[in-house]
Amino acid sequence: MGLKYTNVDRTEDPAFCIRFMDAMRSLPEVQAGRARAEAMVGLRSGIRVLELGSGTGDQARELALRVVPDGEVVAVDYSQAMVSLATARHGESGLPLTFEQGDVCDLRFPAGSFDACWTERMLCHLPDPSAALAEIARVLKPGGRLLAIDGDATATVVDCGDPALSAAMVAAIAAQTEHPAMGRELPTRLGDAGFVDVAVHPYLCRLPDEMVAAMAVALRPVLIEAEAVAADREGSSMTVPLLAVVGTKPPAT
Ligand SMILES: C[S@@+](CC[C@H](N)C(=O)[O-])C[C@H]1O[C@@H](n2cnc3c(N)ncnc32)[C@H](O)[C@@H]1O
Repeated sequence: MGLKYTNVDRTEDPAFCIRFMDAMRSLPEVQAGRARAEAMVGLRSGIRVLELGSGTGDQARELALRVVPDGEVVAVDYSQAMVSLATARHGESGLPLTFEQGDVCDLRFPAGSFDACWTERMLCHLPDPSAALAEIARVLKPGGRLLAIDGDATATVVDCGDPALSAAMVAAIAAQTEHPAMGRELPTRLGDAGFVDVAVHPYLCRLPDEMVAAMAVALRPVLIEAEAVAADREGSSMTVPLLAVVGTKPPAT
């Protein structure tokens, strides 16, 4: 099943994960939300940025373009397959950008190493997002910012032509992540992790027909189990709510 990202290297079809990441990234609403998020985090020349759950590495490249010439981006992903792909795509870019395998809950960096951290659609897949946020807070400098983007799968707007089937589809999507309501939880979770000046940009993303069809195929076993296989019929539509949330590690007193 290709919608689970807790351990991509152990999924049956990592190529599906990659195609889905590329497709999501290319959507105009996702690009606009990300541009707004980049402004919220205050990217500028000379800063050190850590991306967590960097996937294909495409966003790490965008971040690196904004911190040149004296800044640096380090991109970490738990999946060696994703690190290899990102290195193949961007390793020779000449940008101040490195990719490495690691676990957001156990980072190798000393405390206060980075001016900003960026994480997009990763926290929802973690068994323990609170541990991840504590670790991110540790490696940020005082006054540094965390930008987290996540969807709210429980609030996916689905129409399969029948309310019960639409609800089954939403449930099947939500079951793919450890924390399907992560998007809506982000502001509270950042506050609980000690971040201040938390600000939120919510936005919606309508998936094109071909992405909905691919998701329906991937979710077919779950839908069959729920006796809702007709939920994957042609003509279904799907809109995903996303939240970009920024918080600041309190400055040292
Ligand atoms: C849904 S993908 C999103 C990738 C990318 N941020 C994007 O928006 O295209 C989630 C990524 O988080 C990574 N990931 C999952 N658990 C992780 C962990 N504990 N530490 C670091 N990365 C992790 C996965 O390997 C995957 O590449």
